Amino acid sequence: MQSVSAENPEFIRATRISYDTIADAYAERFSDWLGVHPTDRALLGAFAELVTARGGGPVADIGCGPGQVSAALDVLGVPVFGVDLSPRMVELARRAHPGLRFHVGSMTSLDLPNETLGGIVALYSVIHVPDGHLPTVFAEFHRVLVPGGHVLLGFQSGSPEGDEEHLHLTERFGHEISLDYFWHTPDAVAAHLAKADLQLQTRVLREPAGEEKRPRAFVLARKRP
Ligand SMILES: C[S@@+](CC[C@H](N)C(=O)[O-])C[C@H]1O[C@@H](n2cnc3c(N)ncnc32)[C@H](O)[C@@H]1O
Repeated sequence: MQSVSAENPEFIRATRISYDTIADAYAERFSDWLGVHPTDRALLGAFAELVTARGGGPVADIGCGPGQVSAALDVLGVPVFGVDLSPRMVELARRAHPGLRFHVGSMTSLDLPNETLGGIVALYSVIHVPDGHLPTVFAEFHRVLVPGGHVLLGFQSGSPEGDEEHLHLTERFGHEISLDYFWHTPDAVAAHLAKADLQLQTRVLREPAGEEKRPRAFVLARKRP
């Protein structure tokens, strides 16, 4: 497991502890969200096709939570493994999907060699990274992707006219936590990707459905072939 250090600042420590605290409840509540939204499934399917057309995986599902996105990619024939900051999430993912590999790690400092991944998917995990740390995350993504490798990001979108919107939760699922959410806009994320030399391919904004409060942004990019 990675230690908390200069590369792993306080927000990383707080996020890890918070997700360890709510992992079981999160898994129970959200393990099937992909089954609910056809648009989200279609985008994951498009990502799988792009990765396969370029030459295949491995794909890292970063911020994998209980592992349901990894499992969906596996069904689509993409070699995939999951990475998550929370040891408890990793434990639950391993238990739910014993045929897949999951390990503890942070997207801010990936324990992966250069140019080895055909793709990266990060759904609802960059929401826990402040804007000022996105350059570090996307530099890491660029480092570990093979040339032509793809990235799919999904996140609750901030409103275009707002400054960076931020939510701090001290309670969730009846547990005491200290968890920050940063509602990035697709434009801000696209600008950070471009600076990291990850070329924007597709940007989609889906309106909130059911109990969702914010639009869902999906951004596909790739490392220059
Ligand atoms: C909202 S959950 C999303 C889980 C899963 N991707 C899903 O779609 O259900 C956010 C996950 O990102 C993980 N996470 C947050 N910050 C992270 C980081 N810096 N590196 C890796 N994982 C992180 C959390 O531990 C948590 O499991």
